[in-house]
Amino acid sequence: MPDAYILGIETSCDETGAAVVRSGEEIVSNIVASQIALHQPYGGVVPELASREHLRAIVPVVRQALEKSKRTYATVDAIAVTQGPGLAGALLVGISYAKALAYALEKPLIAVNHLEGHIHSVLLEERAKGNHAVNFPVLALVVSGGHTHLYLAEQHCDGWVYENVGHTRDDAAGEAFDKTAKLLGLGYPGGPIIDRLSAYGDPTAVKFAISQMKHRDRRDQNQPDSARPHFDFSYSGIKTAVLRHVETHNMRERVEKRRKALSALAQPKLEDYLASCDQETLDLIASFQRAIVGDLVSKALTAARACNAATLFVTGGVAANAELRRSFESEAAKEGLPAYFPSRPLSTDNAAMIAAAAYPRLLARQFASADFCAEPGLALR
Ligand code: KG4
Ligand code: ZN
Repeated sequence: MPDAYILGIETSCDETGAAVVRSGEEIVSNIVASQIALHQPYGGVVPELASREHLRAIVPVVRQALEKSKRTYATVDAIAVTQGPGLAGALLVGISYAKALAYALEKPLIAVNHLEGHIHSVLLEERAKGNHAVNFPVLALVVSGGHTHLYLAEQHCDGWVYENVGHTRDDAAGEAFDKTAKLLGLGYPGGPIIDRLSAYGDPTAVKFAISQMKHRDRRDQNQPDSARPHFDFSYSGIKTAVLRHVETHNMRERVEKRRKALSALAQPKLEDYLASCDQETLDLIASFQRAIVGDLVSKALTAARACNAATLFVTGGVAANAELRRSFESEAAKEGLPAYFPSRPLSTDNAAMIAAAAYPRLLARQFASADFCAEPGLALR
């Protein structure tokens, strides 16, 4: 098949993204308009504000992606858009725009699962480096603000097939980073801040026990794959443990002081965060990160062994975390398991991953009907 240029559109949460990707292997352009500054004062994503901002940004972001790619509306081969999971109002903006474009340009429209996008961001970059030899089955850990999911992926002649072999029962790992940063007065989003501050603390200072799931999730009992063991996660307890630590170690006043000092700054720098944290707080932050990373690595590697995975992918916003990457790299290497991550810009939400995931669907001619809807809870299969 000749080269195919797919215009991808992503609006599932708080980034408006548009990208042009050639044949699932070359990013020709990738534009992301982040809404972090908009949501920062609220300490998290406000869905109504997110939808309104997507509406404002979608046209210029798509135009910029096309301009940068030196393509035109007429010379892209298909339009791909995130169908879910995500915020309903946010997804609708991208979907409505993509449908209108596809209809007006008479181009095929491809609906993409956001989680499949995160998985394909790894593959896209490996292909770009010339690595076409990824062995299957792939165990993919998608670890983001909304998900901590393990999928066993196989490649069939008409595309990829996914089996969910683990998920969080409560908070996602990224959510735990964000909530913990918020309760420590560090602002939003918490993951990148905790990542940078952890380097200055002692990760062994505070012992956190992460809940281990011994029984299968009741919601999964009727799934056809119920014979396979599940490797579920739970991160709501550690956030409560950090809160208890703050209370029992008289840290409340320091948290409030930090919150005030940092919220007075438009864009706090690492030095500002460091100046607002005493050593006890830095130790607490590093210990929290170590506990989450340790749990993610040990569960993913146990699952990889149990599922006879040939390759490990770690992707999603939390995959940008330095300690997580280091730890996965060294632990997977000990088991001889090849482990791949997206580059940091491709770990967090972007539209290049959506255009890349759409490519096998374009080859298989799996197009969306004009009346497909946003699915906030869309499952990956
Ligand atoms: O994939 P993503 O951009 O959006 C979702 O699909 O959720 O992930 C965002 C999440 C946030 O929770 C953010 O705090 C976390 O990824 N994150 C990180 C880092 N960078 C982003 N968590 C830990 N360390 C990081 N460096
Ligand atoms: Zn995401």
